[in-house]
Amino acid sequence: MHTRASLLLLFFFPVLLKAAPSSDKDEGGSDSLMLGCGLDKNGGKDSDGRQWSSDEKYLKTKNDLTFKASFQDPSLLSEVPYMSARIFKTKTSYKFPIQGDKRYWLRLHFYPSSYDTFDSVHSYFSVTANSLKLLSNFSASVTCQALSQAYLDREYSLAPLDSDTLTVTFKPSAKHDKAFAFVNGIQLVEMPELFDEAPLLGFDGQTMETNALHFQTMFRLNVGGQYIAPNNDSGLSRMWYDDTPYIYGSATGVTNQATKDEKIDYKTLPESIAPVDIYSTSRSMGGDKNMNMGYNLTWIFQVDPNSMYLTRLHFCEYHYSRLNQIVFKIFINNRTAETAADVIGWSGGKGVPTYKDYVLYVRDRPGDDQLWLALHPANESKPEFYDALLNGVEVFKLNDTDLSGPNPQPSDLLIQYERKANTFHSKHETNRTFVISTAGGAAGFALVALIIVAARQKKKKRTPGTYSATSSWLPLYGHSQTAGTKSTVSGKSVGHANLTAMAQGLCRFFSLQDMKQATKNFDESNVIGVGGFGKVYKGVIDNGFKVAVKRSNPQSEQGVNEFQTEIEMLSKLRHKHLVSLIGFCEEGDEMCLVYDYMALGTMREHLYKGTKPLDLLSWKQRLEICIGAARGLHYLHTGAKYTIIHRDVKTTNILLDENWVAKVSDFGLSKTGPNMNQGHVSTVVKGSFGYLDPEYFRRQQLTEKSDVYSFGVVLFEALCARPALNPNLPKEQVSLAEWALYNIRRGTLEDIIDPSIKGKMNPESLTKFADAAQKCVSDLGFERPSMNDLLWNLEFALNLEKSTDGSAALDHEGEFSEVSLEDNTNNRAAHYKNLSLESEKGLSQDPSNDNSAVIFSQIANPSGR
Ligand SMILES: *[C@@H]1O[C@H](CO)[C@@H](O)[C@H](O)[C@H]1NC(C)=O
Ligand SMILES: *[C@@H]1O[C@H](CO)[C@@H](O)[C@H](O)[C@H]1NC(C)=O
Ligand SMILES: *[C@@H]1O[C@H](CO)[C@@H](O)[C@H](O)[C@H]1NC(C)=O
Ligand SMILES: *[C@@H]1O[C@H](CO)[C@@H](O)[C@H](O)[C@H]1NC(C)=O
Ligand SMILES: *[C@@H]1O[C@H](CO)[C@@H](O)[C@H](O)[C@H]1NC(C)=O
Ligand SMILES: *[C@@H]1O[C@H](CO)[C@@H](O)[C@H](O)[C@H]1NC(C)=O
Repeated sequence: MHTRASLLLLFFFPVLLKAAPSSDKDEGGSDSLMLGCGLDKNGGKDSDGRQWSSDEKYLKTKNDLTFKASFQDPSLLSEVPYMSARIFKTKTSYKFPIQGDKRYWLRLHFYPSSYDTFDSVHSYFSVTANSLKLLSNFSASVTCQALSQAYLDREYSLAPLDSDTLTVTFKPSAKHDKAFAFVNGIQLVEMPELFDEAPLLGFDGQTMETNALHFQTMFRLNVGGQYIAPNNDSGLSRMWYDDTPYIYGSATGVTNQATKDEKIDYKTLPESIAPVDIYSTSRSMGGDKNMNMGYNLTWIFQVDPNSMYLTRLHFCEYHYSRLNQIVFKIFINNRTAETAADVIGWSGGKGVPTYKDYVLYVRDRPGDDQLWLALHPANESKPEFYDALLNGVEVFKLNDTDLSGPNPQPSDLLIQYERKANTFHSKHETNRTFVISTAGGAAGFALVALIIVAARQKKKKRTPGTYSATSSWLPLYGHSQTAGTKSTVSGKSVGHANLTAMAQGLCRFFSLQDMKQATKNFDESNVIGVGGFGKVYKGVIDNGFKVAVKRSNPQSEQGVNEFQTEIEMLSKLRHKHLVSLIGFCEEGDEMCLVYDYMALGTMREHLYKGTKPLDLLSWKQRLEICIGAARGLHYLHTGAKYTIIHRDVKTTNILLDENWVAKVSDFGLSKTGPNMNQGHVSTVVKGSFGYLDPEYFRRQQLTEKSDVYSFGVVLFEALCARPALNPNLPKEQVSLAEWALYNIRRGTLEDIIDPSIKGKMNPESLTKFADAAQKCVSDLGFERPSMNDLLWNLEFALNLEKSTDGSAALDHEGEFSEVSLEDNTNNRAAHYKNLSLESEKGLSQDPSNDNSAVIFSQIANPSGR
């Protein structure tokens, strides 16, 4: 009976759909189906208020296996559609009425959990849409585990199928015992034809006809902006994610946002291409010409190898209006996509959006499981500014018959970690062995997965048949709806009014003339540092008082915001171990912050960067520096009215004055914590890779323990004299935190200690120190010590060191003494050989090995040139 009813419905449905008045193209969602699989007749609403209905009437055969998940992961913000599932023990199809000449989004939602007796760990299945293979041997559980996320959304764009019916078939894998298939949600949305022919990179002058191809969405990012929920898309219920996790290295450029006066005008472009929010935020390189010439603004995407990809770049220049003001090159996988991209030239005017498509074949050789997108100023065109710009990016996998790819492979560390974490949670007790054996097990994994694996894999041979490729278009923190706390200040000028009266009262105000005088008109010879915000100059005020002047980059609105934060933060904070803000200057576009001058520079440069022999620090000095910095952080966490979380603790943000007193600096990213009640601040992930708290990365919940984690990495850096993250080293050594923990567990910590202090430290002091550092990088925040406990331990380690008999090359008077260098020089040379911090090397592509031509001969469409 039931079957007949649904067949009848199916029979009529296409007719009804066709008879309905054709809806506005920009409202593509109006013909859409949103099915919560396993929901009862009443359906349910998701957290965005969208109604999902039951899937039952579209099922071709009867199926009673609907269950609720046994557990709701905290990152699952919406119960609907994820918490209910339909299970298939045998091959089962849905039939949906469609129009044969229209393109459709098909979205499948999976939440791998336990459903009654069905544990998704055993679920392997394939999914087809008519004759197109979407998934095969698919394990939602393995995929989610590898991506470190709780749920998974797959989006496909199906080319016109020339049929009245779309049949979506789920089939449990025959190769696995107990295999079953399941699905939590299905969406089918008619979409306007958004794709046309696109140039084929590497095949001069050829274009690719894409409108007959099926697409899988791999990535969809709002560059320089934040998450855009389906409700806020321009009618096609797409999700757009923050691009930050995909940026390569630390050169993240600056983010920009259109002001109220900078209007976005679509002109002839249909609004469905992308919502206004995409075009009104962007990322550019920054205002420093020389810096920009020295790097590529790069994003890295993990993709399935041996496949074709369409990269769509969205652009909108809302600030400048003339040709040749910003001209840049675009590289995709080291192929030149554009030699002189000029957004104004393309769009025809200020505030007018445009987009560009490029098709590229990604081959299947070691390192080919990534797609690199890089921008660089085209100085050959002699533009007014050496800069580059991007507003949005989408990456689609293309195929006409098969879009399935392998399951990504979770790292061993992650598997171990999860196993132990589960044991741990079920016991509900703190178990010391657990803490020690898994601390940091997943530490850095998330970061490594996205950013570093990418860089390293180019060099390393992959074991045949294993892929660390990921093919989800959800970023790691796919549940970031609540995380939009970007607070860019619109407009260029902070204005004193934006500072609290208190900050103004505590700060000295300088004129631009004062600043010019102090820095010899910002002379290059006075530059002592460069950052994303601009440059730092050495200067002299008041006839001889040395200062450091941080000059904002007028292009950087992010900078404006961070400057303001820093004034607010620092003006209220005075502490021996915090860099003092003396005052600031704000005139027109110019903004400067004036600090105490730190004569001895950063902690890092005394550990391994630019190391002069005399600068080698003894163990005791390192301890003293660490203790100083810890005091500064302790003050931030507990000494001020509110908890202040620094968010960017690293060795370059710990500065040394002429007496080797350590001072914490750079409060641009600081957040005032909650008034101790709530326990955490939810926010977008910021900070420096290699130092980022894995818990913060996963949950986006910031606590003071995030700083403790970063500081733990600093401690290991002091001990081992190597960067927190070094992509050039073998896999297991890339992340210092992981590598150190690994060695501690094996009892081989001695092996990775900086040769210049090895054997010259009190062993008990070392043990105490290593123990403290290890606890700091515990994977779970509550297992990490407070700054106060940590301080106590570090001071204890210092006392142990001081109690050592003075025969070693240690100074006991707090003076800087030379350690015996001779016997160390060679060791150190070997040790430092691999310490290059940057690894921006191009991809190795060997044109002679290019067999993709064969594949293209059939589908490539010569564009008649
Ligand atoms: C959509 O955007 C509006 C304003 O930009 C915002 O207030 C709202 O929270 C957004 N909705 C969702 C679901 O993100
Ligand atoms: C489509 O997928 C199949 C199977 O993965 C692959 O062999 C083929 O090369 C793909 N075609 C294109 C155009 O990428
Ligand atoms: C930028 O990327 C291109 C293409 O991969 C490469 O040739 C170039 O050397 C890179 N430039 C810099 C400064 O890294
Ligand atoms: C562009 O930059 C390259 C490398 O920095 C330099 O060699 C070249 O002279 C520059 N060209 C122009 C026109 O500035
Ligand atoms: C199916 O996927 C699993 C997990 O990724 C893998 O171990 C297995 O080898 C795959 N089986 C086949 C037949 O591809
Ligand atoms: C990147 O491409 C350029 C030319 O486009 C080539 O000279 C260079 O060798 C390539 N880099 C690598 C690492 O293959």
